[in-house]
Amino acid sequence: MDDIVLQTHDDMAREILRDNDRGGHTIPTSGLYPYQWNWDSVFVSLGLAEFDMNRAWRELATLFEAQWPDGMLPHIVFREDNPSYFPGPPVWQADNGPLSSSGITQPPVAASAIVDLARRDPERARPFLRKLDAWHRWFHEARDPDGLGVIAITHPWESGRDNLPDWDAPGAAINVAGVGDYNRRDTDMVVADMRPGKEDYDRYLALVRFGAKRKWNQKIISAESPFFVADPGTTAILLRSERDLASLGRLLDEPVCGVEDRIARLESGFDRFWNPEVENYCAYDLRTGKHAAEATSAGFLALYAGVTKKTGELVRQLEEFDRSVEFMVPSFDPHSPLFDHRRYWRGPVWAHVNFMIARGLSDVGEVAWANRLRSDTAALIRNAGFTEYFSPLSGEGCGGGNFSWTAAVWLAWKLGEVEGFDRWAK
Ligand code: DGY
Repeated sequence: MDDIVLQTHDDMAREILRDNDRGGHTIPTSGLYPYQWNWDSVFVSLGLAEFDMNRAWRELATLFEAQWPDGMLPHIVFREDNPSYFPGPPVWQADNGPLSSSGITQPPVAASAIVDLARRDPERARPFLRKLDAWHRWFHEARDPDGLGVIAITHPWESGRDNLPDWDAPGAAINVAGVGDYNRRDTDMVVADMRPGKEDYDRYLALVRFGAKRKWNQKIISAESPFFVADPGTTAILLRSERDLASLGRLLDEPVCGVEDRIARLESGFDRFWNPEVENYCAYDLRTGKHAAEATSAGFLALYAGVTKKTGELVRQLEEFDRSVEFMVPSFDPHSPLFDHRRYWRGPVWAHVNFMIARGLSDVGEVAWANRLRSDTAALIRNAGFTEYFSPLSGEGCGGGNFSWTAAVWLAWKLGEVEGFDRWAK
């Protein structure tokens, strides 16, 4: 009789990362996202580091192969033209870098991941030090041209939290008249009520055309784009990464010139996000000076960034959110009429966001909350599988399946060690 081999979730997570490996870079999931995505790849490197250190460093190296001469690290690296994804390279027309890519960036988690990996082998981080510094400097120059200490996005996709309601009001200024007909591919693979709506997509495409017309000249885009919104998520992630870059420089005995000033500017700029009516850090539109009117999961990343003066308020808001959902942390305020528990960034829980929020919570000593996020994430994955995101109400797995960053977070956060299903039975 054949031996029955029970596959653990650790085995499944490793298998997903191997299956999504395209030879030195990992795609988020086949079909829906067939290229290398920036922050996906960085989380993947943390998962790979749990079983194949060489492959983890290689993931980061292939991502940085696409870095533009001005320092920007693009949000998608196209090594081929794959018809299963739209908009592909012919729409972006972004030939500014060494490889075909999109013309925008994504949240800069890389320095924080590289510092984690460097703890095991510092010398392997050395080739990344100057590249990270160039990318971070680019954020300050291109996305904070007035030195306010807040980082703007020029496209909702730059936030990584694509269709968050925060972008609805600023997005109304985007002229979609010339967008015309196009064939979305995402809704061939995922049910439409889990994906952004048609109005969102028209705006995404209008902004891609806007950038392509300006040959992705970032100075012109920052000055002229109808969409220029300061994002607490990107800013918090950059602030933590700047601190990690500074410590990497010290570790390697190669000080990073100017990083302390950049940290100080972001620390003081972060206050601008505070919306007293919401009692959380909220996006604000740099074109109109208006704050977003509702809380999102990005506000909690303040703690991940080391901005701790509102810890009490943020924990109170976590408690508020928790009264309305089964699984934390919803991406958008569950009390809002715009909350939509299955639709991409308008409600669902994301494993990698929980991972970052929990790190911040444990940094400030909120250990019970950090453990709670960890056990919720473990329960969601155990019950629904390695999907892209999850309903905070039902725990249903949503979006793409066999998803790389969900698998990577499982491994990096050692979710296999979380006991039981207590949260599921709440
Ligand atoms: C998409 O195509 O949905 C991606 O999120 C863009 O980055």
